[in-house]
Amino acid sequence: MIPFNYLGFVFKHLGSLIYPKEVLEELCIFLKPFSHQESVLDVGAGTGVMSEFAYKCNNKLKYVAVDPAEGMLKFALPFIETYVASAEELPFEDNSFDVVLMGESLHHFYNPSIAFQEVKRVLKKDGKLFIYDFDVSTFRGKSICMMEKLFGEPAHFYKPSALKEILEEYGFSVNIVNHKWRYTVSASLS
Ligand SMILES: C[S@@+](CC[C@H](N)C(=O)[O-])C[C@H]1O[C@@H](n2cnc3c(N)ncnc32)[C@H](O)[C@@H]1O
Repeated sequence: MIPFNYLGFVFKHLGSLIYPKEVLEELCIFLKPFSHQESVLDVGAGTGVMSEFAYKCNNKLKYVAVDPAEGMLKFALPFIETYVASAEELPFEDNSFDVVLMGESLHHFYNPSIAFQEVKRVLKKDGKLFIYDFDVSTFRGKSICMMEKLFGEPAHFYKPSALKEILEEYGFSVNIVNHKWRYTVSASLS
């Protein structure tokens, strides 16, 4: 397993480099409709890199982060409320959040199906989900997947089309944008 609990310092200083500018632009467009202190949950937030990017797009929102690695969360900036928890067991009431973010964290979840059920449960009925991850059908995506498996990680990497189908089964309408070996998902519950 990757020892995330001891990697907080590394992710705090280098984690943002893995986000291309096109993805950050998309994140800002995704967050644009929100303006009334809606609540955002960053799942597998690590040191809060994705929440920091989101905050630069929209600082009116309330940011909450969960991650099982306390050693990552302790580097989160004070505007982020943090909880040590897994995606598969979110410590929140039903219908608590307007937005869920997952920044290169989905493939680390040990049970993505339970995580999606949890995300659907804590999202409000018209809630939105933004995912950024690596495309396993590309050479670089496959290489990362193989490396993570060697480290004993779950490595639940998806082809974008496969993830779209899965999310549709959970009731999301899904838009995928490909960025070479990476992709984003913007999804809405309807
Ligand atoms: C590659 S880091 C990404 C962190 C952050 N989102 C970013 O973009 O820098 C993956 C994160 O997923 C977290 N993680 C691993 N298993 C998880 C689970 N079951 N539920 C939620 N987060 C998990 C790890 O602790 C780690 O912080």
